[in-house]
Amino acid sequence: MSIKKILFTVLITTASLLPLVTNAQNKIITVSTNKIISEVQPTMWGIFFEDINLGADGGIYAEMVKNRSFEFYQPLMGWTVTQSKFNEGSVLVTNRKEANAANPRYLQITKSNTGDTLGITNEGFRGMGIKKGLRYDFSVLYRQQTNNLKLHIELLSTSGKIIGNAIVSPAEITGKEWKKISLSFTTTDSTLKGKMNVWFEGTGQIDIDMVSLFPEDTWKKRPGGMRADMIQLLADMKPGFIRFPGGCIVEGHDLALRYQWKKTIGPIEARQLIINRWNSEFSHRPTPDYFQTFGLGFFEYFQLAEDIGASPLPILNAGMACQFNTAEVVPIDELDPYVQDALDLIEFANGDISTQWGKVRAAMGHPASFNLKMMGVGNENWGPQYVERLKIFSKAIKARYPDFKLINSSGTDPDGERFNFLNGELRKMNADIIDEHYYRKPEWFLANAARYDNYPRDGAKVFAGEYAAQSDATVSINNKNNLQTAIAEAAFMTGLERNAAVVNLASYAPLFAHIDGWQWTPDLIWVNNLQSYGTPNYYVQKLFSINKGTNVVPALMDGKAVSGQDSLYVSSVIDKSTGEVIIKIVNASNIAINKIIEIKGASKLATKANVTVLKSNSILDVNNFSNPATVSPVNSVISVNGNKLNIVLAANSFTVYRVGI
Ligand code: AHR
Repeated sequence: MSIKKILFTVLITTASLLPLVTNAQNKIITVSTNKIISEVQPTMWGIFFEDINLGADGGIYAEMVKNRSFEFYQPLMGWTVTQSKFNEGSVLVTNRKEANAANPRYLQITKSNTGDTLGITNEGFRGMGIKKGLRYDFSVLYRQQTNNLKLHIELLSTSGKIIGNAIVSPAEITGKEWKKISLSFTTTDSTLKGKMNVWFEGTGQIDIDMVSLFPEDTWKKRPGGMRADMIQLLADMKPGFIRFPGGCIVEGHDLALRYQWKKTIGPIEARQLIINRWNSEFSHRPTPDYFQTFGLGFFEYFQLAEDIGASPLPILNAGMACQFNTAEVVPIDELDPYVQDALDLIEFANGDISTQWGKVRAAMGHPASFNLKMMGVGNENWGPQYVERLKIFSKAIKARYPDFKLINSSGTDPDGERFNFLNGELRKMNADIIDEHYYRKPEWFLANAARYDNYPRDGAKVFAGEYAAQSDATVSINNKNNLQTAIAEAAFMTGLERNAAVVNLASYAPLFAHIDGWQWTPDLIWVNNLQSYGTPNYYVQKLFSINKGTNVVPALMDGKAVSGQDSLYVSSVIDKSTGEVIIKIVNASNIAINKIIEIKGASKLATKANVTVLKSNSILDVNNFSNPATVSPVNSVISVNGNKLNIVLAANSFTVYRVGI
């Protein structure tokens, strides 16, 4: 063996014998609980919701029938017709545009021989998730001239077994009148990718529209409501706000396809469907069956915000279509209807029931105000064309509602020419809150954890409106929600929290993704038709939110905020309501680190500290449907020695300490 080889072997052997823990010079992290730096806004940690990745239709909206109103570009998309004998015209797509412009199409079914088989089958959104022993509510709008046709409903399992059925008997001749008939039945088995048959039995002619199926177990058991498991994951986060409806769908591919809140309220059969912008956005992830039915509209989003205790944060179109798509802008002299939409939305949410829009809200079942206090004008818009339009919005809204907070876009990126231009202009305008977006590599999040340490304390506040660490590259299909990205986000979030004087709101994006229908990854929560799980990133968001505290206090090492020294990232808050100090520490290194936390200024320090750790064996670890909790928080209790905590921070971990003070 050569000398070189021997030396190398000795070095390797010695290194492997060294403990995988470092004391990092035994520096102390000092937390002063009596030196309040700033308040933490109740809105601080929230949720970004957009109908992307089947987030609404096929996601939280529990409707199981895809294309229930036959309004997709291809009217029978999602449906197949089965007949024993082909009869031309027995299933006719009919258009009553003059009578019903919002929902013109329906199916006219004609059957002249009792012995023939005629039926339609709906495939659901990537199949239908069906649960054994659960009640399902079927409904349909119909009209018929003879009363001989019956509808035989069957739910089928993935393998084709009948696991639920019912006979719907529209027992009256309605003439020109549309009627709704509903019927509930209970299933005998579960399946992940089922489907629904509607057989027409007997003879006659019947018109059908809005063919619908909902499970009984929706959120708060609301008929026609939301998927409870998905909403529960949101409620568990105790979010400070919920931003809706996006995201790029606010802007739309062109102005005609922008999100218009007034078209999303009222009876669902009158809500005009539009193509979802994410339908064809990525040629590598085409989703031709993606439409926005608006079964979930602004009323439902406000109601959801109220249900989960989050402040509503709607984002409205600023008179500009998506600048990645057509980049259409509305001429300034035609901006009025857009501004009016914003003013009317505030009245819809808050107005007394004697007002025009307050009355509409009350008629939908919510006479009390939704307590709307803020709104975004524009999503990811940039350039002078945005500033010009925004000024008009701001003037009109502030004139009527001086205390209302407006959130303004700073474009798509947290740096660069566009950002610098807008950041400057918006600050000159005395913007209330500036929305910044960061889709960057994990390294960027670590390197920018101190981004706000020297931001101006006066003037505009910051909304970290969309962020997610991209393990590969932005919009790459290879991005993973692994521990590494979650740790990088947690490190960055310590910087947001430490600077709560500047950053008033923050939300990860996107929120949901359906495993068989996504366009964009990474995402906070993944679902299939029956299950949902939180990613490591979800647990980071949740841990920050449920440990939000009320006031920021200093956590210093060598007299400095901890943002990368020894690979550590630290923030601390006190919670005046519970009388605790909460210390959050990220160890972004591959080695465990021993430290001492010294807690100063407490009047009666507890002798025990509650500890919650998020860690795993590898930074590449992810959660999935088989192992949804591989990377999930673990709780323990440690002793407080005098006013000190002797801690061991696991490699690549995020730890939260709570101690009574
Ligand atoms: O979160 C996904 C998309 O990213 C949002 O729709 C958009 O605002 C951003 O570009």
